[in-house]
Amino acid sequence: MNIGIIGLGSTGLLLSAFLRKQGHTITCYVRREEQKESLNKNGIYLLPYQHTSYIKAEDISNIQEHDLYIICVKQPQLFAVLDQLEKALSPHIPILFLQNGMSHIDRAQTLINPIFIGVLDHGAKRVNDYTVEHTGKGIIRIGSIKDEYFQLLENMVDCLSSDAFPIYVEKDWEQILRHKLIVNAVINPLTAILNVRNGEIVSNVHIHRLAYAICQEACDVLDMDPVLMWRKVLDVVERTSKNMSSMLQDIRLQKETEIDSITGYLLSKAKTGMPNTEFVYHAIKAKELGGVEDD
Ligand code: PAF
Repeated sequence: MNIGIIGLGSTGLLLSAFLRKQGHTITCYVRREEQKESLNKNGIYLLPYQHTSYIKAEDISNIQEHDLYIICVKQPQLFAVLDQLEKALSPHIPILFLQNGMSHIDRAQTLINPIFIGVLDHGAKRVNDYTVEHTGKGIIRIGSIKDEYFQLLENMVDCLSSDAFPIYVEKDWEQILRHKLIVNAVINPLTAILNVRNGEIVSNVHIHRLAYAICQEACDVLDMDPVLMWRKVLDVVERTSKNMSSMLQDIRLQKETEIDSITGYLLSKAKTGMPNTEFVYHAIKAKELGGVEDD
């Protein structure tokens, strides 16, 4: 397939590298000239496999026609990017959204294109503008917002999925988003506030306790099975125990986090108090505002 990937952070880099390796034609759309030049010169360097995928990088203002667009920008940049892209994207071409959280869904539904919503649970760490480290093998699950495009989605996934980079079609896209939302709501803020890797969620009894409380609160709001969801959280923690969560990486890079679309989304749906969730929300917001510099 001929694919346009928009946003080259850790997810965009990982996806572009694997899909190029499988023989797809990839154009990467970025906002910074420096990253564009770097990608065109170096390709994408994928660790730990030491593999380089040569792709074409373009400025986001110069969007062309492809068989599929995959939007990988994070939630804080998403709405601005969509406003910019909306006029340039051909309306019949499918768009796949791959974001943490759920606050993008209403906006995605306003687009007339076939809209696919996916979640990815690979561990990925951006090393520099063209290098990404695959820190935990996972899968991608994708659903279609509209039933009429389900067959199109199945054909697309047949073409994109491989043993090395498995992709699955899911009928209930809202359910997969809710599962991922809870996993992110538990792991991301706690690891970012406490500056620990994902594995500490189970190995540190105090963090374990807080994580469990947040999981219960999130399940209450979304009306999910708390036993099943806690098992899911533990499974992700185990598979990504050595990883730094994306929120911890953002805090360390002093970037805006996805807290509003993850924890903020849950708080906006809450009918009763969520004390632990509310605490981590404000703690991350406080960290985003900055703190004391290291000596
Ligand atoms: O955002 C993240 O970091 C990831 O979605 C996950 C699954 C929590 C693993 O670190």
